Amino acid sequence: MSMRFDYATAFSRNIGWLTPTEQALLRGRRIAIAGLGGVGGAHLLTLTRLGIGAFTIADFDHFELHNFNRQVGATLPNLQRPKLDAMAEAARNINPELDLRLFAEAIGSDNIERFLDDVDIYVDSLDFFAVEARRQVFAACARRGIPAITAAPLGMGTAVLTFLPGRMSFEEYFGLEGKPEREQLARFLIGLSPAMLQRGYLVDPSAVNFIERRGPSTPMACDLATGALASDVLKILLGRGKVYAAPWGTHFDAYRNKLVHTWRPGGNRHPLQRLALMVARRILSRSEKLSRPERSAPLPVLDTRVQCVLDLGRWAPSGDNTQPWRFEAVGPLEVIVHGCDTRDHVIYDLFGRASQLALGGLLETLDIAASGEGLRCSCERLANVDDTSPDWHPLFRLQFSEAADDTPHPLLRSIEARCTQRRMMQRTPLDARRKAALDASVGAGFSVIWLEGEQRSAVAKLLFRNAHVRLTTPEAYPVHRDIIEYGVQYSEDRLPDRAVGLDPIGVALMKWAMRSWERVNFLNTYCAGTWLPRIQLDWLPGLFCAAHFMIVADTPPRTLDDRLAAGRAMQRFWLTATQLGLQFQPEMTPLIFASYIREGIPFTGKQASVDSARWLAGEFERLLGADAAARGVYFGRVGFGSVPQSRSTRLPLAKLVLNTTSA
Ligand SMILES: Cc1cc2nc3c(=O)[nH]c(=O)nc-3n(C[C@H](O)[C@H](O)[C@H](O)COP(=O)(O)O)c2cc1C
Repeated sequence: MSMRFDYATAFSRNIGWLTPTEQALLRGRRIAIAGLGGVGGAHLLTLTRLGIGAFTIADFDHFELHNFNRQVGATLPNLQRPKLDAMAEAARNINPELDLRLFAEAIGSDNIERFLDDVDIYVDSLDFFAVEARRQVFAACARRGIPAITAAPLGMGTAVLTFLPGRMSFEEYFGLEGKPEREQLARFLIGLSPAMLQRGYLVDPSAVNFIERRGPSTPMACDLATGALASDVLKILLGRGKVYAAPWGTHFDAYRNKLVHTWRPGGNRHPLQRLALMVARRILSRSEKLSRPERSAPLPVLDTRVQCVLDLGRWAPSGDNTQPWRFEAVGPLEVIVHGCDTRDHVIYDLFGRASQLALGGLLETLDIAASGEGLRCSCERLANVDDTSPDWHPLFRLQFSEAADDTPHPLLRSIEARCTQRRMMQRTPLDARRKAALDASVGAGFSVIWLEGEQRSAVAKLLFRNAHVRLTTPEAYPVHRDIIEYGVQYSEDRLPDRAVGLDPIGVALMKWAMRSWERVNFLNTYCAGTWLPRIQLDWLPGLFCAAHFMIVADTPPRTLDDRLAAGRAMQRFWLTATQLGLQFQPEMTPLIFASYIREGIPFTGKQASVDSARWLAGEFERLLGADAAARGVYFGRVGFGSVPQSRSTRLPLAKLVLNTTSA
């Protein structure tokens, strides 16, 4: 059914908050919008729905995939379309009578005057980094007596600055003229948001880099910015309501539940602003030194879908993030996985058992990842010539084929979200639904033993004693020294210091002590050096969790295949925990020490460590039963809690691939 457009009916629901006369007045107004991306597109559509009758809009860019998180016009049908055309069409779909003047070029000195002809208000939506163009447009507005507003999306809030004719100008407020570009950007940011409400929850500072001209954004901030800006537009055009004009600024942050009005006479020359600028410059240069996790580049030989499978499979966990695997691309759909281990230098990986569990986890992850590409992954373990040698490297041939059923595996979306949370969790117990799902996840041949309620304090005590063995055994020292990467949020091939679970003082102490075994030994012997890490990393988190668990095999694991199967069960359990909204922490060392004692495996030359490990093994058996302790394959804890903000990432796929030519 075709229906004629009628302005009065289309915008009739504005009446009440507007009188009919005011609505008619808005219909006769023209607004200029430069930039139709993050906020500009939303401004255009919201102001169209407010009933504004005419716009002058400018944009020279086209929509790209990375715009999708926030730009209203960024949709699949608009991909690669000029933003100007797409947004003009979207606005005309709301009001076909709109009077639009379109500028498909950058706004600069040669077209500013034409751009601002007949304009009642200028709405700033230029890219944050287009600081010179912004300066020019605001200056032209000031010359022509045009009110100009900027509503910046910041974090999960918005900071609004309005410049009215005859009041403080943009240049007077920000003081950008003659400054280098990076300084102009810092001044713009601090001037926009003197309260900096968003700063406290920037969880990944490496996303902010003024040199590379990038910063993070949220859709909520864009929507809030549009709402705040359109309200100011309405007040200015209708001459009613209080408008906070520069040097007043308004910052509303939805994440912090905070609204702040700032007053900065002198703008960025105000002493508080100078101070904030000093801090901002330091923070910016620190964040610009942070590197971002690398994205994997395309590899020849491999089918692109297989490459996606390997890329996702990389996220399988491994002890100390060692990633004991490499991929050999044999053909487009065929890959050989080379397994390795760290038995030669890691006290926790004697005989490569922990690495074999990780390899099992990798194979399980690849199976699940294949389902996301409509593929099936069949895996055959190759019997290599030195199968009997103590340090042989297992090989697996992976053959990918079209899956009969293209439904993605239910755990697919948990692969990248799964991670290790070493800090305290909530003590809320597990509900029956989650426990049942975790019990079922391990599959045939395995079961789960839970240690809950009061038993948590017994496990916490066990972990506390166990940590003493870890921290005082000389053979463990080089492992602890080498696995931590200091001063980073993410680590490709180790554990970032912040993911270990210590507070900043503990991290600083650990960094100092880890320079030599003598330092560690001195602290341990004379300064009760094991107490702080044992309390923070073992005892408290051992108490603060929903439950400890042990995955047990029906029969004690003996062979590589047994451990691969156990690794697969571990990964299904871990991914299921992630899917159920639980955090997860492996507690493997008590299990490892107990097995060394049970099997008489020498792991240290220090008798006191052997004696402590013997006590541990006894306690472990008392808690779980001697039979179950011997069948245990994975020990850990789960609980509700926050997602860790610092974590191990992975080596880029290119570094995990041995060769990219046919083998
Ligand atoms: C077999 C195995 C044993 C592990 N043992 C421990 C452990 O005893 N303590 C610990 O904190 N993390 C342990 N982890 C977790 C790894 O350190 C972690 O998976 C790795 O650093 C990658 O980090 P992510 O899990 O956050 O991706 C273990 C992981 C695996 C696969």
